[in-house]
Amino acid sequence: MNYSSRVQAMDASPIRKLYPKELEARARGLHVIHANIGQPDLPTPDAFRQGIVDYLTPRTTLAYGPSEGLPEFRRACADFYQRQGIEVLPRHILATTAGSEALLFVLLAICEVGDEILVPEPFYTNYRTFCFMAGVRLVSIPTYWETGFSLPPLSEIETFVTDRTRAILFCSPGNPTGVVYSRESIDALLELCMQKNLWLVADEVYRDFTYVGQPYSILQSHIQWEKRIVVDSLSKRYSACGSRLGLIVSYDPGLLAQILKMAQARLCPPTLDQQGAIAMIDSSDRAILDMKDTYARRIGHLCALLDAIPGVSYIKPLGSFYVMVRLPVEDSERFASYLLEEVAVDGRTLMVAPAAGFYATAGRGRSEIRLAAVLDEMQLTQVAEILRIGLEKYAQLPATNRAMVELK
Ligand SMILES: Cc1ncc(COP(=O)(O)O)c(C=O)c1O
Repeated sequence: MNYSSRVQAMDASPIRKLYPKELEARARGLHVIHANIGQPDLPTPDAFRQGIVDYLTPRTTLAYGPSEGLPEFRRACADFYQRQGIEVLPRHILATTAGSEALLFVLLAICEVGDEILVPEPFYTNYRTFCFMAGVRLVSIPTYWETGFSLPPLSEIETFVTDRTRAILFCSPGNPTGVVYSRESIDALLELCMQKNLWLVADEVYRDFTYVGQPYSILQSHIQWEKRIVVDSLSKRYSACGSRLGLIVSYDPGLLAQILKMAQARLCPPTLDQQGAIAMIDSSDRAILDMKDTYARRIGHLCALLDAIPGVSYIKPLGSFYVMVRLPVEDSERFASYLLEEVAVDGRTLMVAPAAGFYATAGRGRSEIRLAAVLDEMQLTQVAEILRIGLEKYAQLPATNRAMVELK
């Protein structure tokens, strides 16, 4: 078959890679606890359902909406930003089919094929796929466990800039690391972008889940660099991943006009979800704060449990809901497979995300996994218990057997 080299070069999502093992474990009658994926478990605020119910009548035609998003939706989003002290008007917003489409549109709008984009590593794995789709080369800037994955000094970042560099893309609060960059380092990135005439793209989908200090958007910076773009999403903020709604926020009307051409080709973001979201955004600031408190509590709980497992270390997240964990194993992908195949506690087994897939540099992250605190405290206790027992059993295997654990 003649599949394009472009699709063939793409990796399957490393987070979903263990899915066949999960199916096998379920076929053996086990319940699989998912600590591998950033799918929040908290209920979507009820205003979302109510907004949809109020909109739908027995004779409603579920029609296309404007390609840039419904005016009421953009107004609700702009008001939300204003309530957070971020100067955004509806005309600065283009609604997208969630953060994923926003990322792809942004790359397509600012990069030529063959251009480079700098991304701190480890990073959200789909960045790589979006770059493939846009023909852009992702150049990773390594960040390290030892410094809590904070940004390296500007002098080091500068060395990655070439004639083909178009942009820097970063995510803070971070997935997978939970790092929150300081205001100073974000402002410094803006300065650098201004000096080098680069776009700065901030993936702020976890902005509200900042546990230390106040959330900070690049749009709040005093550095008036036009080429700054926020990618945002309702998925995590409202525990509404299935609503598929996101935003591109920019002060550059030219950029949004260019992106609108692509938005017109895909016609519109989902109308029904926008109707639910309008009511939800207007009334759920308190719910977001409650979710944030819940995640903070869970992270504290999980970290305390991890403290009690011999040989395990972790980076306490300052934001988002992920915890990077270092295990006393050589290859966390084999260990993750082994958990699903061989470890069951009270009829339960565990799925974790091996961290190597979040790195572009071969060999990095091999002893690390990412856990997502999107489970309640009781389930997190079970996660730690399965992990502890799994590590004990794994350590007793002869090294040759460990190397033979199948990967897929
Ligand atoms: C860092 C980051 N950006 C963007 C997304 C895209 O999410 P969505 O398309 O649901 O908005 C995700 C989803 O997990 C993410 O973790």
